[in-house]
Amino acid sequence: MEAIRWIIKRTRQKLMDHQYPINHTLAGRYKIEKVLQNGSYGIIYLCWDLDTSQRCVVKQMRKSKKKENVDNYRQETIILEMLDHPGIPKLKETFIYEGNQLFSMEFIEGKNVEDTLFDTKQKYSEKECLVIVQKLTAIICYIHEKGVYHGDIRIPNVLMHGDKLHLIDFGLAHNLHTDSHAKEHQEQLAQDDFFDIGDFLLFLLYSSYEGDTKRKKPWTEELTLHPKTTHILKRLLQIVQPYQQCEAILEDIEEAIILLS
Ligand SMILES: Nc1ncnc2c1ncn2[C@@H]1O[C@H](COP(=O)(O)OP(=O)(O)OP(=O)(O)O)[C@@H](O)[C@H]1O
Ligand SMILES: [Mg+2]
Repeated sequence: MEAIRWIIKRTRQKLMDHQYPINHTLAGRYKIEKVLQNGSYGIIYLCWDLDTSQRCVVKQMRKSKKKENVDNYRQETIILEMLDHPGIPKLKETFIYEGNQLFSMEFIEGKNVEDTLFDTKQKYSEKECLVIVQKLTAIICYIHEKGVYHGDIRIPNVLMHGDKLHLIDFGLAHNLHTDSHAKEHQEQLAQDDFFDIGDFLLFLLYSSYEGDTKRKKPWTEELTLHPKTTHILKRLLQIVQPYQQCEAILEDIEEAIILLS
């Protein structure tokens, strides 16, 4: 019975979620160069924008997941349109093509941090980790000031290229201007983003850890860090007095970088 249900689900998805081929032009404007991701929520294409002669990224919502995703999709486009920061891709337009809901945005050069850490096996010193997290935190401070909480700050959602860092994927973000639930839980949403910054920092710090992670000791025992970095992590991860203001995180990171210099 389970197997039949699974086959029906897959067939329905295949029929409904049409993935367009390379060189196909979407809406007479976006020529597909590559499929970047065929994920659970949408299909992401790298395209050539024929109107502006620029690379761009187009996200196509899965029709089979329309019920679950329509709100996230709408939120993501509203939020991208609202935000104006060099570390966040800019929305180009939303459009419908052959009954599919899509939107286009600025293409960001770079690799996501998950691929950088696990495929390229890049290692970062403690100071380098803090410099990276300082850039990420500055973006978070900006979006919080605009009433937006990302809700999904994770290594695959951060792109890096040289010394530039971008935060992407606002599919699970909350917007105080349009979401009354977000207003009620504003503090919690901020704390969740701060916790995720802490988790992100740990991923970076573990890149130069040489020991055996299988022994599953806590990070406080495995990593040898400057006391200031440990303190920042403990506050971000809410082990000790959590941060209330994003700017306080930035100040502490700045101080830690100076101490490590
Ligand atoms: N504007 C962009 N510029 C460059 N690459 C991008 C851009 N947006 C997304 N990508 C690439 O596509 C990947 C997935 O994008 P995103 O995180 O927005 O999708 P998602 O909502 O997580 O999709 P899924 O539900 O399939 O996980 C990113 O890790 C990145 O490599
Ligand atoms: Mg993502």
